[in-house]
Amino acid sequence: MTTLLPRPVSFARGEGEFRGDPRPEVRLVAGEPEGYRLEITPERVLVEASDEAGAFWAEQTIRQLRGPDAFRAAPLRPGPAVLPACTVVDRPRFAWRGCMIDVARHFLPKHDLLRYVDLLAAHKLNVLHLHLTDDQGWRFEVKRYPALTEVGSWRPESRLGDRRGGLVNARPHGGFYTQDDLREVVAYAAQRHVTVVPEIDVPGHSQAAVAAYPALGLHGGGVWTDWGVNPRVLDVGPETLEFYRNVFDELVDVFPSTVIGLGGDEVPDQGPEHGAFVRALAAHLTGRGRRPYGWDEIAESGPLPHDVIIASWRGEEQGVAAVREGHDVVMCPEQHVYLDYRQSDLPSEPIPVGTVLGVEDVYRYSPVPPEITGDEPGRVLGAQANLWTEHVDSPRRLDYAAFPRLSAFAEVVWGTAGDPAFLDRLTTHHLPRLDALGVEYRPLAGPRPWQSLPGVPGFPR
Ligand code: ACM
Repeated sequence: MTTLLPRPVSFARGEGEFRGDPRPEVRLVAGEPEGYRLEITPERVLVEASDEAGAFWAEQTIRQLRGPDAFRAAPLRPGPAVLPACTVVDRPRFAWRGCMIDVARHFLPKHDLLRYVDLLAAHKLNVLHLHLTDDQGWRFEVKRYPALTEVGSWRPESRLGDRRGGLVNARPHGGFYTQDDLREVVAYAAQRHVTVVPEIDVPGHSQAAVAAYPALGLHGGGVWTDWGVNPRVLDVGPETLEFYRNVFDELVDVFPSTVIGLGGDEVPDQGPEHGAFVRALAAHLTGRGRRPYGWDEIAESGPLPHDVIIASWRGEEQGVAAVREGHDVVMCPEQHVYLDYRQSDLPSEPIPVGTVLGVEDVYRYSPVPPEITGDEPGRVLGAQANLWTEHVDSPRRLDYAAFPRLSAFAEVVWGTAGDPAFLDRLTTHHLPRLDALGVEYRPLAGPRPWQSLPGVPGFPR
């Protein structure tokens, strides 16, 4: 039985073990994107990879074969690495193996963002979608419009738990990334074959921008201190369009990713002018050589160019419809991969919101809905797990929400889920790796006492 996670396409144990320097001899050979073949014998460690990414994923496999201590920041004992003799043949099923982190509702300091890049890479995930702006905060420095961060990056207080509970956390919250911070994150991620896909959300979820530049909106107001769907959306006239064209120009200057997110979700009283605004920005991005990427609502607000990628979040049927319309789609249905949702129905779950989504529920998810036959004009590029952070106010809380569900998700998008021994592999082999990394995951039996948040109201569905 392989101990690896994600499970490789094939694994065969050999005779004996290798002792020595675990850095492989790497040969680039023709093959499928990101694919590799790893051969470990008592004499050598050899990787044949189709590309640099494949060689990098092979190195992650080698690290796992060395045992949990290979995930510590420094070796515990002197001596050679020990690797079991084996042959691994491997390649991902999906090109988009993503995780979205909402750094807008609660800011994730740069150091912790870099740590998440490492955690994604260790799981062979290759897309980090950064939700950089929302009603509650603007996290991207824009040189032309400094008030976006001076005003829009902080709020004086926050709702504590679900809004229906009526509690408030009176501590101010804030933070933003400079353009150079984000260039650093992009470069660090690129070294690990992770693409950072930025998103600026329009025309809803934009109150932080309106707080900074009131002419962008119809109703004024400060950075929002509540959670939920905000009816105060952008005033989508020509000046606002010009403003956002300039903002997106700075965004594409920082992020080399071909794919650039423009949001488009949850616009109450959506009218044709909102669809036209999104389409105008999409055309602007296309003109800059990029591919616009939006939440599935944008496919319903008028005809969209086919190069636009759709994130199917409200369910799977939106993704099916978009693929039939000729769009490429990233599946992220809330019912299966929203990692802010509660992990069990235990009363001790911290701020329980959404439906129950346990680690085994995530593991059962299959990114290609059965209605999609492969003959549609569009494609399912892959899937991403979404980490919304209304109720996740610290890196420790993020670890709790993300792990081990994100480990299960990694195997889903690598395309090798369906292993009856998954939970055993997770418990016996992978949780010790997370322990060595210092990840404060949710134990399978339930939260540790200090991971609960008694008295902070959720809203379970
Ligand atoms: C979303 O969850 N509003 C994309």
